[in-house]
Amino acid sequence: MRVIWLLFVVGFAKRAAGLQNSDLEDSWDYSNVFSTSRNEGITFADLPGFTRSTYQRDHALITPESRVFASMPGWKNALTAHLISPATGSKFSMYLVDMKASSAAGTPPAGVERFVFVLDGAVKATLSSNKEEKLLHADDYAYFPADSANGLSSDAGAGLLIFERFYALKSGQAAPVNGSTAERPVLPVPGEVFALRKLLPSSNDYDFNIHVMDFRPGEALYVKEVHYNQHGLLLLQGQGIYRLGDSWYPVQAGDAIWMAPYVVQWYGALGSTTSRYILYKDTTEDPLEH
Ligand SMILES: *[C@@H]1O[C@H](CO)[C@@H](O)[C@H](O)[C@H]1NC(C)=O
Repeated sequence: MRVIWLLFVVGFAKRAAGLQNSDLEDSWDYSNVFSTSRNEGITFADLPGFTRSTYQRDHALITPESRVFASMPGWKNALTAHLISPATGSKFSMYLVDMKASSAAGTPPAGVERFVFVLDGAVKATLSSNKEEKLLHADDYAYFPADSANGLSSDAGAGLLIFERFYALKSGQAAPVNGSTAERPVLPVPGEVFALRKLLPSSNDYDFNIHVMDFRPGEALYVKEVHYNQHGLLLLQGQGIYRLGDSWYPVQAGDAIWMAPYVVQWYGALGSTTSRYILYKDTTEDPLEH
């Protein structure tokens, strides 16, 4: 009854304003109904209010239209978008950095280790302890141990992915690491088909590792993993279906995923290009202690 009353009032108000529905448009365009743009891939991201992003108890999918860039204390001429942070229950941060021309990084807080992966542009990595300086391009990475007085700067701009966490190993001796993903060996993955590269040494001196995993279209994880480790993932190329808990998400390059401990996880690559993702995984820690 109330609805009918409301409709009546709205209709009355329109008429009072001299507005008829037919006055709102002179001509109508119905061509989208049979549009061939569907064959080229409709840009769903442009639909009002539509996003594939979701935040659940044990996982999150953060798609590019949901990124929010802001300035961060300490950083100069750079904007960061924190995709994962301890606010979600994670023990690490994962964020994108848009470094503009003449930009520089802020120093990580005391006790925090930092891993930098370059997505585009060029960035200069420095370690003041040994006056080392290294120019990193897309596909290159650098790991800075906690409290290592490190710096990042860019003359012409760069796009970065950064992982950070408080170093958790009491007796570990993490050393600086840097290099290029392409130069890392492909490691054996018994029972699986993907190509695996690890960007940090698999030693007890590091409390996390960064995996780069490639799947050709049609390839999938064999193990439907459930484990205590946490993950932060960025799909660098390709598209497929990511299973998280009881949800199955169509994903594509640029999508980020947070996986809490014990969430059911599985990926199947689809589309026409090789899928590549970069993945944070905590290691070495005794789950009883952390
Ligand atoms: C790069 O890694 C080497 C060890 O492989 C280290 O000696 C050097 O200081 C690192 N450089 C930077 C800028 O992190």
